[in-house]
Amino acid sequence: MQLLLILVAFLLPPGAGAEEIIGGHEASPHSLPYMAYLLTQTPVRESFCGGFLVREDFVMTSARCWGSTIMVILGAHNISRQERTQQRIQVLTATRHPGYNEDNNLNDIMLLQLENRARRNQFVRPVALPQFQTELRPGSQCTVAGWGLVGQNRRTDTLRDVQLEVQRDQVCNNLFNTYNSRKQICVGNQNDESTTFRGDTGGPLVCNNVAQGIVSYGRSFGAPPTVFTRIARFLPWINKTMRQSEHQESH
Ligand SMILES: *[C@@H]1O[C@H](CO)[C@@H](O)[C@H](O)[C@H]1NC(C)=O
Ligand SMILES: *[C@@H]1O[C@H](CO)[C@@H](O)[C@H](O)[C@H]1NC(C)=O
Repeated sequence: MQLLLILVAFLLPPGAGAEEIIGGHEASPHSLPYMAYLLTQTPVRESFCGGFLVREDFVMTSARCWGSTIMVILGAHNISRQERTQQRIQVLTATRHPGYNEDNNLNDIMLLQLENRARRNQFVRPVALPQFQTELRPGSQCTVAGWGLVGQNRRTDTLRDVQLEVQRDQVCNNLFNTYNSRKQICVGNQNDESTTFRGDTGGPLVCNNVAQGIVSYGRSFGAPPTVFTRIARFLPWINKTMRQSEHQESH
């Protein structure tokens, strides 16, 4: 449902709002080897999302990217090509956080257990997760990447990235009435158009080589700031979910 709404927002006529990646650029190919492209099918539609490898057998993404069938593509740069670096792996189990609330986007996190382990190499490698409840200071510079739209109805087939700055929680408190600073991170400077980014839902916010956030939601026309899920807050659930899968495999 949420994805549908986002797509509707994307399809608004030109002039309805600017959605250019104004300070973003094409990523250097394979410089972000944790990035995953997700092709999601629900009974009514097919859509795409961002995600990121956190272990050889697990991809993390937004709960909004849930589907009955999800295919993960790792090691991609130009998604329209069959690149030799790509690994396409089906998802075995998609586990949304049990507290995920699609009305206010709280607990917007999902773990995808892959059918086969990814082969780790220079093109495909997991990203580190933060320590439990580590603080992320306003002003921290982070990278967000995705294959999302770059303009009105214009998709990109190559991975793009942009540098964004962590904001004070107050900025998002003023803009989003369901913003929760314990579980979410406010990212992207409202006064700095060059950081505007309309990324794929589910992609990571990476600060100092650690994945701190997951692209969750923003204003309907993509102006900053954007709200990210605060990964550090969910470490106990993440550990438990990934441990349970090991347990199953050993039976
Ligand atoms: C991506 O690949 C497609 C298919 O080969 C090609 O048409 C397109 O120009 C490529 N995109 C870029 C930005 O190189
Ligand atoms: C989660 O697992 C990691 C790696 O095993 C460990 O370092 C960390 O302390 C665990 N965190 C929590 C909150 O369980």
